[in-house]
Amino acid sequence: MIIVHTIDEVRQAVQAARKAGGRIGLVPTMGALHAGHGSLIEQSVAECDFTVVSIFVNPTQFGPTEDLDKYPRTLDADAAYCEQLGSDLIFAPSADEMYPAEQWTWVMTENITEGLCGANRPGHFRGVTTVCTKLFNIVQADIAYFGQKDAQQAAVIRRMVTDLNMPLEICVCPIVREDDGLAMSSRNRYLSADERKRALCLSQALTHCKEQVVAGKTESAALIAEMMAILEQQSAEIDYVSIVDPDTLEPVEQIAGPVLALVAVTIGKTRLIDNLLIGLNDN
Ligand code: PAJ
Repeated sequence: MIIVHTIDEVRQAVQAARKAGGRIGLVPTMGALHAGHGSLIEQSVAECDFTVVSIFVNPTQFGPTEDLDKYPRTLDADAAYCEQLGSDLIFAPSADEMYPAEQWTWVMTENITEGLCGANRPGHFRGVTTVCTKLFNIVQADIAYFGQKDAQQAAVIRRMVTDLNMPLEICVCPIVREDDGLAMSSRNRYLSADERKRALCLSQALTHCKEQVVAGKTESAALIAEMMAILEQQSAEIDYVSIVDPDTLEPVEQIAGPVLALVAVTIGKTRLIDNLLIGLNDN
């Protein structure tokens, strides 16, 4: 495995792999890797001949009051983990390498970015879609791997790739959870022991929603109220609780097919998100 920091180096390495006839996989990350990221890397290694993991804490997707400076940076441990999983190349550019001049060109999606996380994080998805477009153009992979953990991000990237005819496939991998149900996240390390226990309310609220839907409840408003009660019991500060169409992310009032239930809360000072895909025939 090699670690490169410049766009020229990653292009050269990918070109060589492609000449050898290989299928190229890209796993975009911001580092501080855990088993959630690991599952994406493993899938790429299983399906592709050459796996590129990008590690870049992208400043343009952080709001002015968000945790850009505090975001964990653990390149040595990340590199060891990537190597252990069989990655071929880590691309870890500096902010200057990715943004050498003021960015005047942005990729933006409409509608799908206005609700949910987009409502309280203005500019966040513009940063994500722009940096992913840059990474797609730099690496020119055949397939890029994203996690269902960030359900809105995955839906936005799928939509962008479709709308702009970008020549790559998007694979969305299932959420990896701790044994007790907490979705793995780089931000879980900010939680105190007490907050860590209370954070179980996210997966509990979603599981409760699923059980109710499977039992025949179809009215989203009632289900949302029940989820909110579970979150409030743990003094979680609620950003949103929603039940939406899994592709368009538009709110669903009466459940008649597969839906996506999502929650976003702050516990202590840490913002946590989680979601669950719910089919009517799940059990
Ligand atoms: P980051 O938060 O590092 O996440 C990188 C990828 O790992 C994302 O696609 C995310 O959904 C996935 N992931 C995180 N936790 C997961 C879990 N518990 N189970 C499954 N997948 C998980 O998301 C970003 O970085 C950035 O926005 C990025 C796409 C790299 C653009 O800067």
